[in-house]
Amino acid sequence: MSRDAQKKLAAEKALEFVEDGSVVGVGTGSTVAFFIDGLARMKSRIEGAVSSSEQSTRQLQSHGIPVFDLNAVGPLKLYVDGADECDPYNRLIKGGGAALTREKIIAAASDRFICIIDEAKQVELLGKFPLPVEVIPMARSHVARAIADMDGLPVWREGVVTDNGNWILDVHNWRIQDPVGLEAKLNQIVGVVANGLFAARPADEVVINGQLRPLRKL
Ligand code: A5P
Repeated sequence: MSRDAQKKLAAEKALEFVEDGSVVGVGTGSTVAFFIDGLARMKSRIEGAVSSSEQSTRQLQSHGIPVFDLNAVGPLKLYVDGADECDPYNRLIKGGGAALTREKIIAAASDRFICIIDEAKQVELLGKFPLPVEVIPMARSHVARAIADMDGLPVWREGVVTDNGNWILDVHNWRIQDPVGLEAKLNQIVGVVANGLFAARPADEVVINGQLRPLRKL
């Protein structure tokens, strides 16, 4: 099956968990784009969505799906989003599309986070995909030096400005043995807004090959 077919299959499965009358948390990316198209088919049954990016907001609104401010409607019952990497414990690297901070906020404010991926995203150890870190622009060099001290190789994603007006450093060279510890450590660096590790709050379920995989205990 092609990657797009796998993404669509995962998105269709996640649609089964959308409750009537609910406001759905919506992530960002090419997999979520299939989910939003599916959501459009059932838009009369839902109240609307909270969106993690301007990109997803545009797609939702193009389908006539109301988009709400999280402050007005949270906490949410369900958040659906993709990932760049996923380990056997549903811990993720996200942020390839630079939307990690809002994605993390909505995931934190949701009772249930279903992650929809294709097979290529599955890894044993996180870190082959460069880890995105959102930084306040004036802190870019300071954060980069701190990351280099941790043996990471930060590369500035030049030209990319996040929806929050910040910049992204993509960190290469890490094989991440302790995702929860690294997530917390990065959050301690002054100037870091958020990092793309979703480990302290992993996905509750991952949909892969049309199957729902629950959280596996460490
Ligand atoms: C957006 O910033 C990311 O976190 C996406 O969720 C992630 O990059 C997955 O995107 P695709 O579904 O396009 O692979």
